[in-house]
Amino acid sequence: MSAQKVCGVEELSPATARRVVLDGVAIAVVRDSAGEVHAIGDTCTHGDISLSEGFVEDDGLECWAHGSKFSFATGKPLNLPAYEPVPVFAVEIIDGDVYIDPAVRLAV
Ligand code: FES
Repeated sequence: MSAQKVCGVEELSPATARRVVLDGVAIAVVRDSAGEVHAIGDTCTHGDISLSEGFVEDDGLECWAHGSKFSFATGKPLNLPAYEPVPVFAVEIIDGDVYIDPAVRLAV
């Protein structure tokens, strides 16, 4: 597998998340308030909830159901009730487009 084009950076509104599925892997793609793009597993490890429907913070993505926030850097939950991490994926920006390889996991 290799990196796949997801969207243009400018298509990602700041402080919002978008759910994409690449090779069957659900990924939350986030553009934080500083404009940096992150990609983490989209399924909360506490329940079957899409994290991209949650709240974007500067350091992670918060699940709307019970409030666990998952770090963009490590995928680890920064608070309970979740205690298992989500995967973190490498993001490449090429000519203004976002590329993600679902097989390349930086954490977990
Ligand atoms: S389902 Fe996400 S914190 Fe409970």
